[in-house]
Amino acid sequence: MQQTHKRTILMTSALPYANGPIHLGHLVEYIQTDIWARFQRLRGHEAYYVCADDAHGTPIMLRAQLEGISPDELVAKMTLLHQADFADFAIHFDNYYSTHSPENRHFAEHIYCGLRDKGHIERRLIRQAFDPIKQMFLPDRFIRGECPKCGAKDQYGDNCEVCGATYLPTELKNPVSAISGATPIDKESEHLFVKLGDFEEMLKQWMNNGSLQPAVIHKLSEWFEAGLQSWDISRDAPYFGFEIPDAPNKYFYVWLDAPIGYLASFKNLCDRNGLDFDHFWKPDSTAEVYHFIGKDIIYFHALFWPALLFGGDFRKPTAIFAHGFLTVDGQKMSKSRGTFITARSYLNHLNPEYLRYYFAAKLASGIDDIDLNLEDFSNRVNADLVGKVVNIASRCAGFITKNFAGQLASELHKPDLFEQFISKGEEIAQDYENRDYSKAVREIMALADKANQYIDEFKPWVIAKQAGQEHLLQSVCTQGLNLFNVMMGYLQPILPVMAQKVELFLNSPITWQPQPLLSHQIATFQPLMMRLDSKQLDAMLNENKPLTPVEEKPKKAAKKVEVPAFEPIKENIDVDLFGKIDLRVARIVEANLVEGADKLLQLTLDVGEGKTRNVFAGIKSAYSDPSVLKDRHVVMVANLAPRQMKFGLSEGMVLAAGDGKGGLFLVSPDSGAQAGNRVK
Ligand code: MSP
Ligand code: ZN
Repeated sequence: MQQTHKRTILMTSALPYANGPIHLGHLVEYIQTDIWARFQRLRGHEAYYVCADDAHGTPIMLRAQLEGISPDELVAKMTLLHQADFADFAIHFDNYYSTHSPENRHFAEHIYCGLRDKGHIERRLIRQAFDPIKQMFLPDRFIRGECPKCGAKDQYGDNCEVCGATYLPTELKNPVSAISGATPIDKESEHLFVKLGDFEEMLKQWMNNGSLQPAVIHKLSEWFEAGLQSWDISRDAPYFGFEIPDAPNKYFYVWLDAPIGYLASFKNLCDRNGLDFDHFWKPDSTAEVYHFIGKDIIYFHALFWPALLFGGDFRKPTAIFAHGFLTVDGQKMSKSRGTFITARSYLNHLNPEYLRYYFAAKLASGIDDIDLNLEDFSNRVNADLVGKVVNIASRCAGFITKNFAGQLASELHKPDLFEQFISKGEEIAQDYENRDYSKAVREIMALADKANQYIDEFKPWVIAKQAGQEHLLQSVCTQGLNLFNVMMGYLQPILPVMAQKVELFLNSPITWQPQPLLSHQIATFQPLMMRLDSKQLDAMLNENKPLTPVEEKPKKAAKKVEVPAFEPIKENIDVDLFGKIDLRVARIVEANLVEGADKLLQLTLDVGEGKTRNVFAGIKSAYSDPSVLKDRHVVMVANLAPRQMKFGLSEGMVLAAGDGKGGLFLVSPDSGAQAGNRVK
């Protein structure tokens, strides 16, 4: 029965970036981990599951600037949304924290100093693209230009989406900063590196200890063969992150402190709940530590992370559990098809346990991708959960309530059959333990088939009509409900919400391999789960679809880029975001040509209450004689973060319509509107 040895387990999921919403792809991982955590607890082990928002890095810093808020405010806002999504999918964290925390700063510094003092850090000068207007170094993905190989325009700094070439950002032709539009210059700066090669022996030993997945071992071997490169862990200011103790104006790269966030979140939990952090993390710890991650971030977890842990004198993880990527109907999630489905839009239409069940039915221990086939999804949920599992309870419950005042019989009709269900428990437990949830689900559904066959054979609805068969009717229904109870124990890690409803219905806690419920009072049966209606699926897909189809990025040989006459309408925003855009009527006090600029006009705008703003607007092509603009009323975005341009500071933007062919038409309010009026 229950294993006697009580294990102590810490598990984590990767920390989602704080600049985007949780989507169904993410949920593969959080649901996979949550099922494992619930399973371990159900089996009586001490298990903790922690996570956090990954708060640092350039994209988050820039997005906060764009929204005119501080990075802390952005992270605070996003983490609430993330946590609400997780909670509504019944994903239970013992702690959900942030990498921008005092604990994380402490551990990042501790680990860095450890590596430095042991001689594993080197400093080197490197040359990088630098944005002279923004005054910052540009990560590769913020540089765009022409592909050095095929000449395709507007390609990323490291690879061409048209011909597939990879190159250095310095090789791009006519590069521009994606942030300011300025031409980047080449600039030198000192960076700090972890000498990864120092850890090769240690990493090989760890790899050979037998607990990594074959696919992870395969990747590691490839990296060893290619030779381990030193890892650049520093970024120059401005950067949202932690400043490096002995390198002023340099910050830890987000991927240094992100995994350290696992330690920080757990430490925060320990401090609040009186747990012994060191017991889990000292080098000879007997506790088990597992990181659930996607296959795209194996490098960081299998190479860098053990090296970082070594620097801080911490133990290495017991294992890393990598999973594959989610596709929808066989294809990468796509905004234009409406299959880039956010967690929230799913929740607006569908029961979260449908998805928990479907992912479980598909997940195995490897890194194969997982497909959400929408037709299969709705068929399986209806056939398995509603048609098989819930059906067992609903076929037996009514008779117990009506004919026996809710009282179960004092003995089972077929004790052997009950024992068969119980004895399957060890095999199912092994499947869960191996993260082979799809196999566990197959075993459980085979039991559901068996239970339904049993009920079909003894037909309580027939016995109920036969005089003198009350005893048989009660024991057959008691048998059915007890089989159901055993199955719900096996399903509880996957369906915790339904399991809670069953606890109320059966008036008994759900446990793994329960004793039979006999001479026991149950409550009235309530529907445990509704059928999935395909209309709900359609509504969800519609919610995720843009108003007009977005052009998918051409993958191959895009010849000539035609300017569409009608610009596709962008992705929906919510009313809260719209409410943040402060549109105002402004009066053009003055409009001037700008020397050296071929597209810009300089506008002085009266924004009400005697205040003026300076704005550079790219409208010269339509108003080559700026004097016609004097005293015209226009609409401006009044709370756009000011932007330093070559010609001066621009403090807002005026609205103009574009016809896609280069025509520009300033937008004006009807007469009567005054400068400073809010446009809503
Ligand atoms: N912030 C980093 C992780 C730092 S961990 C110290 C990151 N964040 S993420 O938001 O991009 O992804 C979080 C997790 O979700 C990763 O494990 C990633 O592999 C997983 N997934 C993101 N998209 C996914 C799919 N489409 N399918 C399956 N998992 C996916 O990476
Ligand atoms: Zn190219």
